[in-house]
Amino acid sequence: MGHDTRQLIEELREDHRNMALVLDVLEQTAASARSGEDPDFELIDEIMRYMTVYPDAVHHPKEDLVYGELIRNRPQLASDLEDVPADHRQIAELGSKLRDDVEAIIAGAAVRRESFVKDASDYVRRLREHMQWEETDLFKRVDEMIGKDDRAINIDEFQHIKDPVFELEIESVFERLTASLKNAGCGVK
Ligand SMILES: [Fe+2]
Ligand SMILES: [Fe+2]
Repeated sequence: MGHDTRQLIEELREDHRNMALVLDVLEQTAASARSGEDPDFELIDEIMRYMTVYPDAVHHPKEDLVYGELIRNRPQLASDLEDVPADHRQIAELGSKLRDDVEAIIAGAAVRRESFVKDASDYVRRLREHMQWEETDLFKRVDEMIGKDDRAINIDEFQHIKDPVFELEIESVFERLTASLKNAGCGVK
């Protein structure tokens, strides 16, 4: 049990490492748009699809469950945790705004370049801040809970859902993202 609960928090950290790599790619596209170039909007569309099907749909709900266990089992370690679901919702909303920009641009609609650059930058900044808070504070509290009680998290509730880019490597759907990560020398085979 102890091994499995630690594995769970390690999965959350691994997700963060992967999301950080994807955010770097997204940030580069925003920087190229800011400097007047046309970024690869199909690539950005893939990035936002990835963000929807993995971080929003798997990573954040898993964290919500882990933090729920922390609130239940160790209320003295749970200050500010009630803000996390709203943070996750806000990140998903910023993501959906950005996805709407990109889909409209691909469909040929007139979306101002500045709107895209602002929405992409807001999304990258907000998600990075959130991940940093988790890594420097919340994950450490979860470590403390697990360290003192191997049964602190009931892992029966968790099902390991594989990451479509970093574990399943579904290149047919995430072709441009996979190629960008490979070019950047990142951990996709
Ligand atoms: Fe989170
Ligand atoms: Fe997270």
